[in-house]
Amino acid sequence: MRTPGVPGYRPHMQNENAFHFAAEGAGFPIPVVVWGTGNMGRAAIRSIDAHPGLELAAVLVSSPAKVGRDAGDLAGLDRSLGVAATTDVDAALAALGGAGAVAYTASGDIRPAAAAADAARCLSAGAVVVTPALYALYDHRSAPPELTGPLLAAAKEGASALFASGVDPGWGNDVLPVLVSAMAGTVDEVRCQEIFDYSTYDQPDSVRLLVGMGQPMDYEPPIVAAGVPTMVWGGQVRMIARALGVELDEIRETLERRQLEVDVTNAMGLFEAGTQGALRFEVQGVVDGVPRIVIEHVTRIGADCAPDWPLPPDGGAGAHRVVIEGRPRIEVSLEATDEGDNRAAGGNATAANRLVNAIPWLTAAEPGLYDGLDVPLAPASGRIGRSTP
Ligand SMILES: NC(=O)c1ccc[n+]([C@@H]2O[C@H](COP(=O)([O-])OP(=O)(O)OC[C@H]3O[C@@H](n4cnc5c(N)ncnc54)[C@H](OP(=O)(O)O)[C@@H]3O)[C@@H](O)[C@H]2O)c1
Repeated sequence: MRTPGVPGYRPHMQNENAFHFAAEGAGFPIPVVVWGTGNMGRAAIRSIDAHPGLELAAVLVSSPAKVGRDAGDLAGLDRSLGVAATTDVDAALAALGGAGAVAYTASGDIRPAAAAADAARCLSAGAVVVTPALYALYDHRSAPPELTGPLLAAAKEGASALFASGVDPGWGNDVLPVLVSAMAGTVDEVRCQEIFDYSTYDQPDSVRLLVGMGQPMDYEPPIVAAGVPTMVWGGQVRMIARALGVELDEIRETLERRQLEVDVTNAMGLFEAGTQGALRFEVQGVVDGVPRIVIEHVTRIGADCAPDWPLPPDGGAGAHRVVIEGRPRIEVSLEATDEGDNRAAGGNATAANRLVNAIPWLTAAEPGLYDGLDVPLAPASGRIGRSTP
């Protein structure tokens, strides 16, 4: 019989509730501000609109061209939501009346310090913050104190909470593998894969500059520069290790890149033959010298590049997959689509929904920082049969 003294056996996690069934009561609907209306912001507006316990209070934009546009229009809905986009942060936060929530979906990629300062401003105003933009906070327990310190102080001041989640797409590398492991017997390896053709991920800066698609093969894509994958995905490897009760010796990275054999043209323009057309990397959590918890990305620009690498099981443009090697072997593959059969938009929408659906639980949580394993899943209560055009 196993006892709590056995290494790797931890019978009690911090949060033992897998699901949170929100009960409407005082304070509902919860007012929510969406800050930033790119891929994630559009999805967040639709998510709030669909949620019976939430109400869109304001939409903040940085681009002057969007000021005054209705949220429904910005989110690709075919109706007005009666909320005009603004750049007035003070007015938007005032609309929350010292409580409520902010879905912070403005980019944090090139402005991480500014994004963290914005999040702290919302927290100290008393608003719960959910965000995909602060990678270092996906596993806040391993985030640098210079980042967490001001946010914790702001959360204390505002009696508020922050939940950061988002990449792959915010559940594929934390709650999903842990959930699937609940059906496992012996486990040799937990592998989380994002297999994606980025042709439909209409974010040219990320695709060309960050990931390096269409760049000469001697270009070093910043997203896979030594140490960066660990910075972005290492927290999730650590979270899975924490849930499975194992100590990691180290986190390792692997990288392979392939060039395009032929020119590829898509909505972002031309990607020339001879330039980078695919990359594949792993962030490996090593236990007793063996990679046991692996986050793997297989990313292409065009389905024909690197055909011998893993492809989405259903032949579509992208999938998130969890494979548990062991006995039994378990494989779960998820394909989401949105905004016209677009897999990237589908992934974004699931990431936004995970965050937005967590708001009711977070408004009742103790002040502080929360990750994907701290925050229970909120089923889509009250949304069956509600169509979102
Ligand atoms: N897409 C995903 O599944 C995913 C996954 C993980 C993490 N993330 C992270 O989530 C964030 C948003 O992703 P996304 O795909 O929605 O990006 P996006 O489509 O590029 O949108 C980002 C938005 O940020 C706002 N913005 C840009 N520059 C700004 C500035 N200087 N000051 C204030 N706001 C600015 C803009 O909104 P306005 O035009 O409204 O001002 C822009 O539309 C990024 O940090 C991304 O890395 C996304």
